[in-house]
Amino acid sequence: MGVRFRGWGIGLPDRIVTNDELSQTLDTSDEWITERTGIRERRIGGTTVGLGATAAREAIADSGMTVDDIDFLLLATTSPDRLCPASATLLAAELGLDCPAIDVNAACSGFMYAARMAQGLLETGNKRILIVGSEHLSRWVDWNDRTLAVLLADGAGATVLEYDPDVNDLLSSVLGADGNAADYLTCEHGGTFTMDGPEVFRRAVRVVVDSAEQALKIAGITADKLSLVIPHQANIRIIQAACQRLGIEMERAVITLDRYGNTSSSSIPLAFYDARQNGRVKVGEYALMTGFGAGMTWASSIVRWS
Ligand code: ACO
Repeated sequence: MGVRFRGWGIGLPDRIVTNDELSQTLDTSDEWITERTGIRERRIGGTTVGLGATAAREAIADSGMTVDDIDFLLLATTSPDRLCPASATLLAAELGLDCPAIDVNAACSGFMYAARMAQGLLETGNKRILIVGSEHLSRWVDWNDRTLAVLLADGAGATVLEYDPDVNDLLSSVLGADGNAADYLTCEHGGTFTMDGPEVFRRAVRVVVDSAEQALKIAGITADKLSLVIPHQANIRIIQAACQRLGIEMERAVITLDRYGNTSSSSIPLAFYDARQNGRVKVGEYALMTGFGAGMTWASSIVRWS
């Protein structure tokens, strides 16, 4: 049994916040942020449902479908608009969907978690799953905390995953979670995100490399066969360290964090969209999609575009 990625879409706030703008209110600088993270600017604004709806409408249209074709909605988000109900139900109403809808919170691994869950749903009778990663992280940022204010941003990305007996785009998925590391990156009810950056950095490189190696093994390929790496966009140095350990040149990695910052569940679909727009996604070629985030959680998948 196979699954196939169909159309893709994105939703971004109009407002661009540069490093220089942040430096006016925080003890930081464009030089520090660019050198230590790779981020130059980010988008701030909107809501999780609003940005998600923009991305979802484009993904459904890009798939040549209508809302009536969708029979399940998975919304990956770490920043739902309400604690209850799930933002997925609000997004479904906004889109005019008539199907089950739930939130998936696996932080920055959320989109890949949702893809794996969608594959399971498609293998057991569903036909077309709308997967949306959408974040309004700026709402949960302490704008006086330079550690996170320079990293986190808003945005959304979406795709439709369809059952197709003749092809299989999602060749392997390795997911994990370790709640013992919960306090390294957390947000209490009514609070704001806090993070031990260096600890998250160290663990991130480790789980990305380990899960990617396992995903490659399950898919039966080696890293040299990958034409693209589509990583979670947290920090350019994390991506460089992981690629180096996996023996993958940086030229094969898709980078959008310079323009969009860290958009958690949205960063992998935003990066895929960017790669496709730039003609980097080619039929029959292999890619690694890999994420890590609060939890900690991690998820690596090998995909091959049909
Ligand atoms: N501007 C200027 N200086 C800063 C800033 C800033 N924005 N932030 C920290 N510093 C200072 C520190 O205070 C420290 O100063 P000191 O040497 O005088 O004590 C110095 O810079 C170095 O600080 P480190 O924290 O060691 O810097 P590091 O190189 O580790 O970079 C960063 C910090 C960018 C947070 C990095 O650790 C990182 O990217 N960690 C991982 C983040 C991540 O991936 N998060 C997970 C996903 S998010 C999610 O799941 C929602």
